[in-house]
Amino acid sequence: MPPSISELQRRLEKHGLDDNPKAQKLLTQATAPYLDQEQQWRARILLQKLIQKHRRYPFTDSVPQISYLTDQAILGKTIKSEKLYRLQEQDLVQHAGIFGRSGSGKTTLMRNLMAELSAPFWAFDRKQDYRHLIHDFDDLLVLPWYNIKFNPLKPPEGVKPILWIQVFATIFTDSMDLLSASRGFLIAVVAELYQDYNLLKENTGPYPTLQDLFQKINDWKAHPSSKEGQYKGTVKSRLRGLTKVGGHIFNFSEGYSIEELRHRNVVYEVGGLYKEFQALMQAMLFAYVYYHQLAQANRSGELQLILFVEEAKQLFSVYQEQQSAKGIPVIDDLMAQSREFGLGIVAADQEPGKLTESLKANTKTKVMLPLESTQFTKIVDALGLNDIQKEYARNLETGHAIVKHGGRDPVPVQLKNYQTETVTEKELIEDQREKWNQLDFTPSKKPNFSPSESTDTGSTPSTDRQRDAESTESVQIALSEEADDLLEHIAENPLQFVTDRYDSLSLSYYKGNEAKKELLEEDLVSEESVGTGQSKGTMFGLTEKGRAYLQEEDVEVQWKGRGGIRHLYWQDQIRDLLEEHGWTAFIEKLDADVYGIDGGDEIAVEVAMGVNDRELDHVEDHLDTGWKTVVAARNQSVKKGLQRKLEDSDLDASQVALTTVRKLDAEDIQL
Ligand SMILES: Nc1ncnc2c1ncn2[C@@H]1O[C@H](COP(=O)(O)OP(=O)(O)OP(=O)(O)O)[C@@H](O)[C@H]1O
Ligand SMILES: [Mg+2]
Repeated sequence: MPPSISELQRRLEKHGLDDNPKAQKLLTQATAPYLDQEQQWRARILLQKLIQKHRRYPFTDSVPQISYLTDQAILGKTIKSEKLYRLQEQDLVQHAGIFGRSGSGKTTLMRNLMAELSAPFWAFDRKQDYRHLIHDFDDLLVLPWYNIKFNPLKPPEGVKPILWIQVFATIFTDSMDLLSASRGFLIAVVAELYQDYNLLKENTGPYPTLQDLFQKINDWKAHPSSKEGQYKGTVKSRLRGLTKVGGHIFNFSEGYSIEELRHRNVVYEVGGLYKEFQALMQAMLFAYVYYHQLAQANRSGELQLILFVEEAKQLFSVYQEQQSAKGIPVIDDLMAQSREFGLGIVAADQEPGKLTESLKANTKTKVMLPLESTQFTKIVDALGLNDIQKEYARNLETGHAIVKHGGRDPVPVQLKNYQTETVTEKELIEDQREKWNQLDFTPSKKPNFSPSESTDTGSTPSTDRQRDAESTESVQIALSEEADDLLEHIAENPLQFVTDRYDSLSLSYYKGNEAKKELLEEDLVSEESVGTGQSKGTMFGLTEKGRAYLQEEDVEVQWKGRGGIRHLYWQDQIRDLLEEHGWTAFIEKLDADVYGIDGGDEIAVEVAMGVNDRELDHVEDHLDTGWKTVVAARNQSVKKGLQRKLEDSDLDASQVALTTVRKLDAEDIQL
């Protein structure tokens, strides 16, 4: 027996089929007086079947209709009828949200979108997920965190510095979890700092850095027990962390030109940074492009740049939204308004419950992948699913999603897969080196005039580029061709023993020695005994005069750091040792003589040629950063001297592995 008419009506309503044309037709038949009982009965059975079928797949598979002539992205195929589910690219200015638990396919979908889109994109990448796309996009620029250069205190082109002060202060207090009262203090200090740089008059460099801001706050007069004194204390401590760890990122008058980068596909690998720094960096970059677009008065709304943000709760955190005293977090505001400026955001997270309401409300396209059940309930209403659809959506497979686009009905979609080949750190560096080298930046610089003059001079301080920042005195020396070759060879391949070098240059021992004498006489090089035991030999060091001469000759010196050749020799040996044991290691990176990274683990090795306080400063910085820290002393007496210094300092000596370069072995560099 099929269910009664009233029962069928109830079920149709429950399944949202009450206005389904086929159901309506059957319902009319089931009650039509001109049909006999058997025919009415048949109609009831068909209705029952329709409902059962719908229970198994409670959707209509209606997809957005888009002309094939417009820019679009294919998400995948509807699960039942295998229709292509396409999105108009322009729709992304109204943003998209992707919600799915770990391993559900968020990153895959993002990669797929990147590949499908024609507008440039930026990805904020915490897990080194997107560097693997370098083989798929020729022009992709990947910036590992240690290679990002960005000064958040530089206002975007065309933006009034006074406005930027407020943006900076708001984002800083938000990302660093400071109370809104600190914001007022920060505004006051940055305003004075901008005054020192004559920035309030004109948005031209040089620009102060976070380091300058730290200094300014440090010099700020406030009684420690006063309110202002407290703000000073908290802001200072946050900045100390930023400037110490992020010195190589933030300490520039001008970082890479965002105005240029916004036309390119860029992956910002923010994963190596502390959480708050990640939040600050992402929010400031977003604000930067937003206000830049605003200043360009480009309100066409045409899609210009798409930001891909994983772990979106970092930027759009409900906790910040709840701190009502602060009002809506600035980033939410920007998101709501960025549509006008053609900035699209694709935000993904595994915990939609932690995202702001504003993010959920302001995403025209929502993609729900498999979710943990507690999180499922937090987002499911935003997708407009009825009860039966909810049941279906609870049991999605990896790569399956419910897509909700604007006012359309939600549709289950089998998302396209996107596979990538893994790119190693080495491959990445090889692929990107050239691109990194082409990025311009301006080192940090003091203002070109004293603050007291700033009110009456109309001069604009110039911003010298890194390339010609260093001036040298002219070095006039006449060298023989052999000596010149030898010197150039030393500059380009520092680590070679003297006799091997002669061989590489095809110089006889006699000719080689003649050339060497010339260089020694002119005090361009020094001769030094390097290495130990079997591998001991003589190498050349470069003197200051030698460096100056080479610079004049436009020869690039391939020595990193300012240490001598023995220092470099040990750095090279230690790098090899680290690499043998699985680290990816670099000489002179991040203020460490040798820096190694292996997944999430980091190590710094300092080569100490003497008993210097500077070594301890470095050690302190590395420990602060949370790296495993090793000091390799030149010999026993340096080691003893450092040991004493270490014990006298307030550093935790137990955290530092102190050894000599000769004894340094696998054990010292293990975690
Ligand atoms: N559309 C898809 N079709 C088929 N398989 C998929 C699809 N999307 C993802 N997968 C599979 O699931 C795995 C995990 O996907 P992905 O890395 O995109 O998940 P995720 O949500 O980003 O995870 P996490 O939260 O851990 O970063 C992929 O390696 C792939 O094997
Ligand atoms: Mg992922």
